[in-house]
Amino acid sequence: MSDRHPDPWRAVDAQPTAETMAAALEVRGHTPSQIRLRRRFLKWVPVRERDRVLEVGCGTGVVARDLAALVGRRGAVTAVDPSATLLARARSLSRDAAGARIAFRHADGHRLPFADRRFDAVLAITVILHVEDPLRVVKEMVRVARPGGRVALQDQDFGLVGAAHPDRELTARILDGVAARIYAEPHSGRRLGGLLRAAGLRNVRMLADVYQDTTLTRFSRNFLERRAENAVRFGIVDAPTAERWLDGFNALYAEGNFVLTMQYFGACGLAPDGPRR
Ligand SMILES: C[S@@+](CC[C@H](N)C(=O)[O-])C[C@H]1O[C@@H](n2cnc3c(N)ncnc32)[C@H](O)[C@@H]1O
Repeated sequence: MSDRHPDPWRAVDAQPTAETMAAALEVRGHTPSQIRLRRRFLKWVPVRERDRVLEVGCGTGVVARDLAALVGRRGAVTAVDPSATLLARARSLSRDAAGARIAFRHADGHRLPFADRRFDAVLAITVILHVEDPLRVVKEMVRVARPGGRVALQDQDFGLVGAAHPDRELTARILDGVAARIYAEPHSGRRLGGLLRAAGLRNVRMLADVYQDTTLTRFSRNFLERRAENAVRFGIVDAPTAERWLDGFNALYAEGNFVLTMQYFGACGLAPDGPRR
């Protein structure tokens, strides 16, 4: 095994599969249950017309394009990511996006290249799970939010994945085992509210939501195939067992009984009025 970090999202440009990862973000972004989940979160925050919004970890721009439509022509969207590959894709996919112009910039969430108190809303969607120091990233988000501005996070919680499968024990071994080896905190989602409070935000609220699939979408298939591949890579199961595990989902699908759910949590708080830490 290479000495790269096991989470490929930490350093997308270092991955031989960077272009495939970019494509996978777009697949997820176009999956109906994901669209509903993302837009419900953005309305809940809320993101309003005319807002100046920053998105941290924008990937290929799926969320940034929704933000541009929500804030409209009199608003402004800035979106940052440390991956040049993803930013290039984001720029070309967002050229004709409706609403506000989107300014894409190369930046790491641990060190945001913006003055204090600049944005009405600062968001990170399925990013905190992947970063080295979540509290530092959130503190940076708070620093660049105006007093009373909204700082909002959304993440999956990999302790809450519901998959129908004939072999329950094997499913738990693969899903829990892979998540534990990739992420420092696989339960990131349920901890987002605490993270916002630790970063000094007030009026912190949480929103639970679920990705639900009974049709074996491309996104679900990608997710299960990556988990199977990683289970072999980490020595959790051998290749024939991983194959048998995937076959189990295909058999359920053929019977019309495929079910996969994935819990997401959103958290939102208000930036303080006083001096920033
Ligand atoms: C799963 S993707 C989510 C992309 C986008 N928010 C979306 O929902 O489509 C995770 C993103 O976090 C970015 N990322 C990883 N480490 C980061 C960091 N330290 N600061 C900011 N973004 C980071 C990755 O480059 C990637 O674009």
